Amino acid sequence: MNDIIISNLSKTYGTGKKKAHVVKNISLTVEKGSVFGFIGPNGAGKTSTIKMLVGLSRPTSGTITVKGGSPDDLNVKQVLGFMPESPLFYQYLTGNEFLDFIATLFKIKNKEERIKHVLEEVNLLHAKDKRIRAYSKGMLQRLGLAQAIINDPEILFLDEPLDGLDPLGRAEVKKIILALKKRGKTIFINTHILGDVAEICDKVGVIDNGEILAVESPSKLSHGHHDLESAFVAMIHKVRKEKGYHTTGL
Ligand SMILES: Nc1ncnc2c1ncn2[C@@H]1O[C@H](COP(=O)(O)OP(=O)(O)O)[C@@H](O)[C@H]1O
Ligand SMILES: [Mg+2]
Repeated sequence: MNDIIISNLSKTYGTGKKKAHVVKNISLTVEKGSVFGFIGPNGAGKTSTIKMLVGLSRPTSGTITVKGGSPDDLNVKQVLGFMPESPLFYQYLTGNEFLDFIATLFKIKNKEERIKHVLEEVNLLHAKDKRIRAYSKGMLQRLGLAQAIINDPEILFLDEPLDGLDPLGRAEVKKIILALKKRGKTIFINTHILGDVAEICDKVGVIDNGEILAVESPSKLSHGHHDLESAFVAMIHKVRKEKGYHTTGL
């Protein structure tokens, strides 16, 4: 069963001379209970896509089906969790106070119990009464994850959850993601950190310049290459050369 079905999805920002076609007719599916990695260089269109998937931005054309409905449906929103790219937190709140605020917005029953459970899940219970401004980058990412799972969503959208983390921080977040997968969650991850993708994703979609270049398992994608990263770079160079795009900046 597919939890996410994207068909001919496009997004255009602006009009006239400023018109930018940032997502170009993409189609893909994500199976229930699987981890999907959406990989691509900066500016490829990953965040624009994920924002449409969670109903924060409207497609210019094409359709999105999440859990059998539209991301605009209230009953779909209720089973969906989202961790944005650079979440802005209230620096003067403690982690616990912040989650209390989010849980109130979601009208969560047994709020205190749920918050404690979520803090345990992301390994932040020890820091719950610390002010957010004193959190490390890794703790902030984990707090971002905590707010995304506060409503015990069935499907999670994570935009660059490993960004800016050291190897220990990445290992910790990967562990949390895999534990969520084990509990049957469907997880869609935007990332440009390729080494980690191979470890946690069942399938990856490669996007460059708004276009999908491949959707494969990490092992199939890296077949014939040293690793996923070199396969990814080779694929993007090849396509950009064929299309006459510049390859600088990679
Ligand atoms: N609100 C917006 N208005 C105009 N252009 C945008 C907007 N948001 C993103 N873009 C442009 O869309 C392209 C894709 O951006 P984004 O989806 O953030 O890529 P990624 O997440 O893969 O780095 C970039 O060229 C970016 O500058
Ligand atoms: Mg992005």
